[in-house]
Amino acid sequence: MLQVNALNQFYGGSHILRNVSFDVAAGKLTTLLGRNGVGKSTLLKCLMGVVPTRSGSIQWEGQALEKKAPYERVSAGLAYVPQGREIFPRLTVEENLLIGAASRARPSGVPDRIYQLFPVLRTMRLRRGGDLSGGQQQQLAIGRALMSEPAC
Ligand SMILES: Nc1ncnc2c1ncn2[C@@H]1O[C@H](COP(=O)(O)OP(=O)(O)OP(=O)(O)O)[C@@H](O)[C@H]1O
Ligand SMILES: [Mg+2]
Repeated sequence: MLQVNALNQFYGGSHILRNVSFDVAAGKLTTLLGRNGVGKSTLLKCLMGVVPTRSGSIQWEGQALEKKAPYERVSAGLAYVPQGREIFPRLTVEENLLIGAASRARPSGVPDRIYQLFPVLRTMRLRRGGDLSGGQQQQLAIGRALMSEPAC
């Protein structure tokens, strides 16, 4: 269970997130909808700790996340697929995937389930990430997030 309570975030003087509160139940799909520029990506960045929050709380499985670094949030079970994908363009597909497992104690290669979900990543595993098409990079960004074995 993820519980967000009264979250506030600013870019300089722009107040983007205003007392945002919601719960996300374990095992359910939760969708966030809103017009362009309303703050959806900003909210996700706040949940991951990629941008700082001004106030409010983020509780994940009973532990407070708002002061934790992004890598600690990944270890706690969160994963993040950036809207802009943020693939490492000069690393291979396989290397991009393995980076996603950096938080695991003993990462041992890319599990078959990732390649079953996204067969094109297996075919292109030795190709540079930056040479993939936009949609293929999107698959790679999702696969990389799954490599950390996120909860739920
Ligand atoms: N790094 C930044 N510095 C300053 N303002 C920013 C920054 N990133 C985003 N913003 C502004 O914050 C607001 C929210 O942006 P955000 O990217 O969260 O929107 P979004 O809901 O994800 O939009 P979209 O549907 O277009 O992806 C926008 O007005 C945007 O211009
Ligand atoms: Mg966005």
